[in-house]
Order: sequence, then C-alpha cells, then structure tokens
Amino acid sequence: MSAPRLVVVSNRVPLPTERGPRAGGLAVALADALRPGSLWFGWSGRRTARAATSPPETVESNGIAYATIDLSESEYRLFYAGFSNGVLWPLLHFRLGLVHYRAEEYRAWQEVNRRFADALIPLLRPDDLIWVHDYHLIPLGEALRARGVTGRIGFFLHTPFVPPEVLRALPRAEQVLAGLCAYDVIGFHTEEHRAGFLRGVRDILGLTPDEWGGVTMGGRRAQAIVDPIGIDAAGFAATAAQSWTGPELRRLRASLGDRALAIGVDRLDYSKGLPQRLDAFGRLLERHPEHRRRVSFLQVAARSREDVSEYRALRIELDRIVGETIGQYSEFDWVPVRYMSRPLRRATLAGFYRAAAMAVVTPLRDGMNLVAKEYVAAQDPANPGVLILSRFAGAAAELDTALIVNPFDPDEIAEAMHVALTMRLEERQARHRAMAGHVFTATARRYSEVFLAALSGAPA
Ligand code: G6P
Repeated sequence: MSAPRLVVVSNRVPLPTERGPRAGGLAVALADALRPGSLWFGWSGRRTARAATSPPETVESNGIAYATIDLSESEYRLFYAGFSNGVLWPLLHFRLGLVHYRAEEYRAWQEVNRRFADALIPLLRPDDLIWVHDYHLIPLGEALRARGVTGRIGFFLHTPFVPPEVLRALPRAEQVLAGLCAYDVIGFHTEEHRAGFLRGVRDILGLTPDEWGGVTMGGRRAQAIVDPIGIDAAGFAATAAQSWTGPELRRLRASLGDRALAIGVDRLDYSKGLPQRLDAFGRLLERHPEHRRRVSFLQVAARSREDVSEYRALRIELDRIVGETIGQYSEFDWVPVRYMSRPLRRATLAGFYRAAAMAVVTPLRDGMNLVAKEYVAAQDPANPGVLILSRFAGAAAELDTALIVNPFDPDEIAEAMHVALTMRLEERQARHRAMAGHVFTATARRYSEVFLAALSGAPA
C-alpha cells in the first residue's frame, strides 16, 4: 500500500514560479519537507477588488501540486492585516499593548477559514494526511470537520504560544483554544510553548490534559507535541561554500577591506528587537572604541506587512536610529551600519553568513528563528563566526552554546558583541561544533518526519 498523500495548508504559499528572494524562513523549510506527490494549498498572495470565489488555481512543479486562492481586498484587510497580524501576531508575541481587537475582524478570520475549507474539500482524497500551518488558519480544522472530513488533521504553530494570563486578554481565547483542540496533533517548537497551551486548556477551557499532553474534547483526542523546525543544513552549507567564491562575495569583501562583518537578517517586524540591537551596536562603539573602523554591521530588514500601522511606525523609527548611529560614528571612509530593506538572494545570504564574524539574532520573542540555524550551517567549521542569540527565540532551546542574551538589554548585547569580536579560535570552534550538532541533525526533513509520524499515529 502506498503512503497517504500529504496535504500542506498555509496562508502563504511560495509558488514555484515566484520563488525569488522574498521566500524564506517557514516557506522554504516546509518546501524542504515536502515529498513528490504532495499538495500545498493556500493564499496566492493576490488580492482582488471584489469577493473572490473562483476555484483554486493549480500549478505543478517537481511533482508537487500548488493550489491557491485569492483573497478579496476586504478579506485581506480584515483576515490577514486585521485579526491574523493585528491581533494574533502581537498577542502570541506577548505584545498586548499592540493588540487591536475588533469583532468584525474575528468574524472575517472565521469566514476566510470556512472559505479555505470549501475550496480545499473538492481537492481532497479520503486517506490524505492534512497538515495546517500557523495562526492564520487555526479554525480550519473545525471547518474541515464540519464539512465531513474524517481523516487525520494536524496543526503546527510557528509562533510562540502564550500562557493563559496573556491569552485571556483575547476576547475569543476560548474559541481559539477550542479550534486548536479540533486537530489530532498540535505541534509547537518548544516545551515552553506547549506548556503554555496545555495550561490554557486547563485554566480557560476547564479540560484536564492527560499525562502525555493529550486533550480530549467532544470525544476526540488532540495530542500536543514539541517538534522544533530545522533547515536543510547540508544543502545550505553547500550553498554557502559555493557562493563564497561568487561575484557578490567578492564585492562584499572588497567593500570591507580587512574589517570584520557583523550581520543581522530579519523581516522588518517589531518582534525582532531591531531598535535594541542597533542601540547595542552604538553602545559597543561607545564603550569599546577599539572596534570603531574595525567592524561593519550589515542589517538586512525586508519590509513586511506595511498595511499594519505598527510596521510602518517601526520603519520610521529604524530609519531614525540608523541615521543617528551613522551620523554619530561614521568617518569619511567608514560607515558603521549598512542597512538594506531590499531582500538578498538566499544563496548570496548564505555566503554572507559564512563571511560574517558574528550574527546578531535578538528577537524579543520568536517561535523558532531559522536565521540562527542558517548562520550556524553556513560557517566554516575551521574558522567559525559567533552567534549572539536571544534567550526568547525558540532556537535558544537547542543552540545553547551561542552567546545567549536578554534582547531587551542593549548593554548586555553590546558586551556580547565585544566578546564575540574578541573570542579565541578554540572557543569559537567548540561553541560552533555543539550548535552544528543540533542544526545538522534536527533538520527540516526530521521535523516533518516527526510530525507526520505523530499525525499518522506511528511511533517517531
Ligand atoms: C512568520 C509567520 C509565517 C509568515 C511569515 C511571513 O514567519 O510565522 O506564517 O508567513 O512570518 O509573513 P507574511 O505576513 O509575509 O506571510
């Protein structure tokens, strides 16, 4: 008997025709996990003026079928910019002050999930394994069940999960938790996220999870698991080594001269701790003037979700901070910070990571953070750079030999930068070896194998 077909559902689908520099993180990691014969369903990234009702558009590439639907302008505003990224995203990143709850956005979130279910149903086969990703689509499991789907449906949350004290601020906390409990398997990146969810189930839904993290609701048992996402580490390492000799790397090296490169790569998002990071770099130059002229910080911050006002405000704030740092420390032949919002090709980035003496990954909260793992994979083990990592990134649970910092404390980050830039080779190698041990073992492939084993009820 052949293995059941895998159906992945996520809000954003990186169409093979559009896989340019913007695709990264989650979408790329999932692509590494798909096997030929799978179906990937979600939003096309397109918006239509009027209600979008046409059936999914399907394209095939390398044996994988991609089926997408459009969102109408109003769905985009209420479902995507509204409830998903204006309520759930800040809430799940512990930013209650940024949550703007509106009942009509919550309703649109439910409605779009029902529309996703309606569009997906005709594409399904009875023995499909359905794997839904991220906060946009929490109610999809319930919607599929209501339409008669009886097969196994799993869900993975790529953001952190908050404890019930924080979740309670959401007027629809019960429905969100119940939506999660409609799946057969619910995956989280860390034990902390899973524990927060199980506490919420107990305190808010009044249900008692069993000792294995199972929750029984309406006669169905949902299993909460921890399954940290990884990357195709060997592939990324090979790309980094290859682009090492490419034209972009030559240009980068020529522009640096004998200076060290420090690197940060993020979506321009308030969860990434960018103001604190740039502040920290200024403090490094202030407290340790020996690094002036000796290091250049390249921050790549790809613009994101600019229809949400907080993202626009952050861009303006960062423009100001970068401008101040440059104005204060630049010399006529040295600029301390290079700041670009234009995304770089993944292969170019891999080479840049390899060239960087340190990477600064300091989100205030992050589900996992794959930049940290990519940086580790891209290093030359004989002469590796140093990773500075926020204790509030999911990746810190695995990469604990990075220089772990509190991302809210620019002084602590500045000191870590100093330590990184002056660290002896043996210590860099030892720290890197331990991290590489995780990154090359807990890969994207293993992530999906573990999840799918749990979903199909087999032991991992
Ligand atoms: C995070 C989320 C993903 C999302 C990505 C890009 O990684 O967990 O679900 O796709 O950000 O954000 P965007 O809003 O552009 O899809």
